[in-house]
Amino acid sequence: MQTVSSVEALRSQIRQWRQAGFSIAFVPTMGNLHDGHIQLVTQAKQQADKVVVSIFVNPTQFGPNEDFASYPRTEQQDQQRLVACDTDLLFLPSVETLYPSSSQTQISVTGLSSLHCGAHRPGHFDGVALIVCKLLNIVQPDLLLLGEKDFQQLAVIRTMVADLNMPVSIQGVATVRESDGLAMSSRNGYLSEQQRQIAPQLYQALISAREAILAGNPNFQAISDQQIQDLQQAGFSVDYFNICRSNDLAPAGDDDQDLVILVAARLGKTRLIDNVYFVR
Ligand code: PAF
Repeated sequence: MQTVSSVEALRSQIRQWRQAGFSIAFVPTMGNLHDGHIQLVTQAKQQADKVVVSIFVNPTQFGPNEDFASYPRTEQQDQQRLVACDTDLLFLPSVETLYPSSSQTQISVTGLSSLHCGAHRPGHFDGVALIVCKLLNIVQPDLLLLGEKDFQQLAVIRTMVADLNMPVSIQGVATVRESDGLAMSSRNGYLSEQQRQIAPQLYQALISAREAILAGNPNFQAISDQQIQDLQQAGFSVDYFNICRSNDLAPAGDDDQDLVILVAARLGKTRLIDNVYFVR
């Protein structure tokens, strides 16, 4: 695996691959890689000749009181994992490389970014859209792979790519879970032993709500309220538990068939998100 940190070095390698006729898949990450990330790389390998992974803890997607400074940075371990799953190139840029002080441009996927996580993390999705747009312009891959755990992020990026006519296909990859159902996340490492025991209840709440809907309960508000109450009793502080249409993430109505339930909740200082999508 090659590791490069400058845009020029990355572009030069991409140019050589393009001249040789290779297709390129791209997996952007913030590092601290877990099996969910490795699944993205594995799927990428199956679909393209060359796989580029980036590790960049993106400052513009963190709020002023969020965990940018303490976000786990585990580069050596990450590099070993990427070598083991046959990554071709790792892009490891510095903050100064991606955000020179002259930068002025912003990107905002306005409607979608104000919902759900966006309502609790102002500016978060603008930061995500900006960095993913920049990385796509730098790598110019055929295929972009993103985890479905960040369901709203995936929707924001799909919308940006469509709205800006960016020439890339996007593939969402199913959430990888621990054996007790907890969605893998770099932030799981913040949980105390006791919080880690409680954390799988987030996924269980999603499953219970899905079962209630599939059993024919039409009262989505009551289903959400019940799950929020149960999660609070278990020790979570719930940001939202929303039953939505999966295409635009607006509140689901009686006639909607393709649904996603999105949840974000905190255990102590750790904010966890998860979702289930299904057809009824
Ligand atoms: O999902 C993530 O890890 C990040 O939000 C992403 C897409 C790499 C952008 O920084």
